Amino acid sequence: MREFDDKSITDAVVASLSQCDDARFKRIMASLVTHVHDFVREVGLTEPEWLAAIEFLTAVGKTCTDKRQECVLLSDTLGVSVLVITLNHPAHDGNAESTVMGPFYWQGAPDLPRGSNLAEGVRGEPAFYSGRVLSVNGAPLANAMLDIWSGDGEGNYDMQMAHETGMKARGRIRTDAEGRYWFRSIRPAFYPVPTDGPVGRMLHKMGRHPNRPGHIHMIVSAPGYLPVTTHLFVAGSEYLDSDAVFGVKQSLITQFDRHPAGVGPTGEHMDEPYYTVNYDFRLSPEGSASLPP
Ligand code: BEZ
Ligand code: FE
Repeated sequence: MREFDDKSITDAVVASLSQCDDARFKRIMASLVTHVHDFVREVGLTEPEWLAAIEFLTAVGKTCTDKRQECVLLSDTLGVSVLVITLNHPAHDGNAESTVMGPFYWQGAPDLPRGSNLAEGVRGEPAFYSGRVLSVNGAPLANAMLDIWSGDGEGNYDMQMAHETGMKARGRIRTDAEGRYWFRSIRPAFYPVPTDGPVGRMLHKMGRHPNRPGHIHMIVSAPGYLPVTTHLFVAGSEYLDSDAVFGVKQSLITQFDRHPAGVGPTGEHMDEPYYTVNYDFRLSPEGSASLPP
């Protein structure tokens, strides 16, 4: 029988992995145990605090449904998601930077012709998006795909609207032979991450606001290139400096230019003011990105 004190317990748990035959899993678990034990010792965790932590994690799990992922929200709001993304998708050679996926991606958005209005019947100020998808060396990528999703002009995603059963403000657009894309949607507004669950209570207790600056999401992909899950952020939006999920990257902040009512960029009559946005996405060839050593 071996008895452990508050220090030797850590070595004992790490040593218990000796028969683990998955080297990567073994390394991850040994490091996790070491860091968690160090954390408990460092803060002198009390039993009521430990119980509160277990109750919190239980509530996070119980809040998950097929439409809501509170575990991802916890990872996002603690900066873990963006840390993993930044490590695995380092910025180099001017490639489009990645940021968080968030919980509102819905696979199977409709394939739409270039120029389509993705936000038909969606509240918000009209915005015309255009640009190119290029290789990092500047070669245009034909038939690249932008899988796009956005909330409405008040920050609500279709999945969050009780009355909404279908997709809204979503669509997949492909580039032309010169790598160009264009589509219409709305100018996204800032909005809060879901706050009616345990993560919302955690943010409140931490003294934090729950808001994300205005942004539109897209996954940009092309055969032979690394796909990028990213956003375009609205320059000047509130909360750019304090995104609740730490997802803002300078290279993704984009100017939305305001125009008066009149003829829109693709010849349509606009009876209200509208915005134009231009952004080129540069993709790295497959096999070119790697984790830092
Ligand atoms: C979003 O941008 O859709 C999002 C990202 C992380 C947490 C909640 C929402
Ligand atoms: Fe979002």
